[in-house]
Amino acid sequence: MRAGTSGIGGDVMAYLEAQGRKDLLRFITCGSVDDGKSTLIGRLLYESHMLFDDQLSALQSDSKKVGTQGGELDFALLVDGLAAEREQGITIDVAYRFFATEKRKYIVADTPGHEQYTRNMVTGASTADVAVILIDARRGVLTQTRRHSFLVSLIGIRRVVVAINKMDLVAYGAAVAQRIEADYRAFAQQLGLTDITFIPLSALRGDNVIEAGTQMPWYQGPTLMQFLETVPVGQSTADQPFRLPVQWVNRPNQEFRGFAGRVASGSVAPGDAVVVLPSGRSSRVARVVGGSNDLQSAVAGQSITLTLTDEIDISRGDVIAKAAAPAPVADQFDATVVWMSEEPLLPGRPYLLKCGTRTLTATVTAIHHKTDVNTLAQNPARQLELNEIASCRLTLDRPLAYDLYDDNHDTGGFILIDRIGNGTVGAGMLRAAIARDNNLRWQRLDVNKQNRAAQKGQKPCVLWFTGLSGAGKSTIANLVEKRLFEMGRHTYLLDGDNVRHGLNRDLGFSDTDRVENIRRVAEVSRLMSDAGLIVLVSFISPFRSERAMARELFGAGEFIEVFVDTDLAEAERRDPKGLYRKARSGELRNFTGIDSPYEPPVNPELHIRTANTTAEEAAEQVIVQLRQAGMIDVDAVFLP
Ligand code: ADX
Repeated sequence: MRAGTSGIGGDVMAYLEAQGRKDLLRFITCGSVDDGKSTLIGRLLYESHMLFDDQLSALQSDSKKVGTQGGELDFALLVDGLAAEREQGITIDVAYRFFATEKRKYIVADTPGHEQYTRNMVTGASTADVAVILIDARRGVLTQTRRHSFLVSLIGIRRVVVAINKMDLVAYGAAVAQRIEADYRAFAQQLGLTDITFIPLSALRGDNVIEAGTQMPWYQGPTLMQFLETVPVGQSTADQPFRLPVQWVNRPNQEFRGFAGRVASGSVAPGDAVVVLPSGRSSRVARVVGGSNDLQSAVAGQSITLTLTDEIDISRGDVIAKAAAPAPVADQFDATVVWMSEEPLLPGRPYLLKCGTRTLTATVTAIHHKTDVNTLAQNPARQLELNEIASCRLTLDRPLAYDLYDDNHDTGGFILIDRIGNGTVGAGMLRAAIARDNNLRWQRLDVNKQNRAAQKGQKPCVLWFTGLSGAGKSTIANLVEKRLFEMGRHTYLLDGDNVRHGLNRDLGFSDTDRVENIRRVAEVSRLMSDAGLIVLVSFISPFRSERAMARELFGAGEFIEVFVDTDLAEAERRDPKGLYRKARSGELRNFTGIDSPYEPPVNPELHIRTANTTAEEAAEQVIVQLRQAGMIDVDAVFLP
């Protein structure tokens, strides 16, 4: 570490203690390499004397080697740390850097300006107090400036510094800065950004970064560093209502049962009346434990364990709040969703939603509009692609204790996770809860599934045939149904082509429509199994995710996935409906196997390879499978 006024001197403990007492400002920088962002951050780090010796000597030698600044230190090299990035001349991914001055500690999240990295900004910046948006004085407000500002408003950063950089290249002219300020203000108003500070500066020469310098006497405001040192830090989350999203239940022995987590907002003390959400049960705080000590109280940001005066059922994902200000609970929301996956977001497809410590299943039931981040235009959308941002209706499978994002980023922000791959595919902000018609109640009926099935002397189940068009699903399913019928079983066969003539007449073959197609047929097959039937479903059902969704509607052993595996070349050779030919000639779009994907089952109950199996043999395999699964009671079966 470079020895300096605020660097680390000899007394490391004293240094750490001093750092610990300073408050922390988190900010992000938005701009591209061309705007001089790296140079600016590099200068802040350098001037705050927070560089390690090895970084410093690397900087000196790199500056000579790369030499873009004619022998002077090239601060950009400090920030564009990775060699690969330097060669490409772009900064990738979010980098967090720490530095400190006499007055404060800082964490700067450096997000790249490149268009496809929207997600870095959204994920890297949600805790920032301030956004520093760089504008090249020569180029003024650009599309990218608008994009960054939109994202800043979206993730709820209220304070913006517009750093008008490269003033040295416009002769430090006041008029240039004033024009940019007027342009930016006009635009920012649309976004509801009002707390904006404009600072004309030269990251390269240093004017108005730390010291004012002599070149811009017309500018009376603070330098960037003065601003960062004095801007109020966050609105204190400690003053907001108390929220403890429960991370885990700590039960080392019979005597102790504590609920551990990080306080998301507010404060708590022994004796406080609390309520647990979403269940709504109430109790009182007995002890607040931090580390191994009992605390008088705890505030936002602290990791604690609470014990309560009553034995109540609490598990991971619950939120403990004060009884006087409980978190609201809902299962339907309007939300902003930022999509981060190459695979599109499809309405109707279930995703895992993680909010605070709670994970549940969410489905986008409608996309209200997506926003063009460059023009702010709101456009209709059937699905969302990588980096798209939309206002959506979300429906959850269970109630969620939440806050709106504007009130609390921890309990109002969420991520979406793919249920098959387990990767993070989206992030979002809860904007409004949507009241459900709570006049709906599940009606209890006297005759139930068991009665109906018993009357028929059978166990209801679903045989789910999946495979390419022309694989032979319908032929095999038809034979199986015939066999079951002859055995006196009560069955129904739902066939894709047939159902698409009626119930699903409104659906085409886009990914979104196929998701809805399968959702409906899965629900219908559940109703039919509830009626006591053995249901045969013969749909391409190309996506794992929707087959998994269908499976989840049924009890263990009731869902039998039958993969009718015919390779594409063979299905195409058969081409019973002439559709492959049309697809190849471009007459037919989105055809499965040609220009629409088929995701083969990973673990089907039955895998039929049709290459060396006749349809009759295949049907026999299904019957055998049913018998082995105990689904057809052998004794009661009349064998032809
Ligand atoms: S699924 O993909 O949504 O499950 P489904 O089984 O309902 O498909 O319908 C498939 C049937 O629709 C095929 O057997 C074929 O006859 C017909 N079809 C028409 N266009 C297409 C297409 N683009 N892709 C697949 N099948 C199509």
